[in-house]
Amino acid sequence: MPRAVKPFAKPRALVTGGAGFIGSHLCERLISEGYRVVCMDNLRTGSLENITHLQEDPDFEYVHHDVTTYIDCPGELDGIYHFASPASPADFERIPIPILKVGALGTYNALGLAKAKGARFMLASTSEVYGDPLVHPQPEGYWGNVNPIGIRGVYDEAKRYAESITMAYHRHHRVDTRIVRIFNTYGSRMRPDDGRMIPNFIQQALSGEPLTVYGDGSQTRSVQYVDDLVEGVLRLMNSREISPVNIGNPVEYTVNDVAALILELSNSTSKMIHELLPQDDPKQRCPDITRAREALGWEPEVPAREGLSRTIRWFAERFEGAEEVPETEIRPEIGRTTG
Ligand SMILES: NC(=O)c1ccc[n+]([C@@H]2O[C@H](COP(=O)([O-])OP(=O)(O)OC[C@H]3O[C@@H](n4cnc5c(N)ncnc54)[C@H](O)[C@@H]3O)[C@@H](O)[C@H]2O)c1
Repeated sequence: MPRAVKPFAKPRALVTGGAGFIGSHLCERLISEGYRVVCMDNLRTGSLENITHLQEDPDFEYVHHDVTTYIDCPGELDGIYHFASPASPADFERIPIPILKVGALGTYNALGLAKAKGARFMLASTSEVYGDPLVHPQPEGYWGNVNPIGIRGVYDEAKRYAESITMAYHRHHRVDTRIVRIFNTYGSRMRPDDGRMIPNFIQQALSGEPLTVYGDGSQTRSVQYVDDLVEGVLRLMNSREISPVNIGNPVEYTVNDVAALILELSNSTSKMIHELLPQDDPKQRCPDITRAREALGWEPEVPAREGLSRTIRWFAERFEGAEEVPETEIRPEIGRTTG
């Protein structure tokens, strides 16, 4: 009798926060790489609209669940991408306790699942672990300058705790872990009312409202397009790098530069207005990506001009009354590279 041959099984990954902005792009990419994907979300800041196009795919499964409670995921799992967490500064005052809970209890539950399944685990951490940095650009070895009791502390400290418990599970329980420190990322599927700089500016530019710039706009940010981030995330997950890795675009812009570029690319006649800088707002933010370059061979590839044009077009298609946004010719970056 011929032996029964076990059919070739596709690897299976769990993405917590999979119905969010980044999570939905990650689910899509994992499926295209041949994974079966379980997307787990409680839709606190995500939306089913972000994953509608995946729902018919036999390799995609959506599970509605709050990861701050025990996570059950029947069947084998090869990887867990723990991306569940609100991420917009506008949410830090609106839902501070759920943010702390998902960083602490959610990460604890997701790590417990990784241990039980023998799955590789990735934590979506953030450049916010560096707080308002005193070192510039920020290498992974920098321990940061965070105000634990400030308004932003709920997010920054939750992510710092999440990194600590991830390393504890690695050292104590030998869970195979990865930590990605994500810098400002933008792209399609961000909520227009999400409160973050780029969707704010785009939504204001498209509706002809003034662009709200906090402070004098000379503070800097580095902005990366979501496709570059997802590429870095996959490379890190498939590497042997246990230490945290910065994934961000080291081209640095002032907030005024970003606003001006969005006005230009969206053909908008909106003006800029300046409002008071929020508490503990970082004055500079720029990744040192030496580790990502050396360990992963990763570099961001999409210039801001191109990524922002794509994002503006995506918003414009959904925004009634917006002027048609022209295809933009790709010109060299403005901004400075410090990484
Ligand atoms: N976008 C960025 O620039 C950025 C920068 C640094 C880090 N990150 C991290 O990347 C991850 C994704 O961020 P995003 O920008 O896509 O935000 P997002 O708000 O679009 O996505 C987060 C997702 O997590 C879900 N979620 C929140 N609490 C949950 C819970 N208790 N149980 C289950 N699901 C829950 C939300 O509903 C949402 O779908 C977050 O962990 C965030 O901290 C993002």
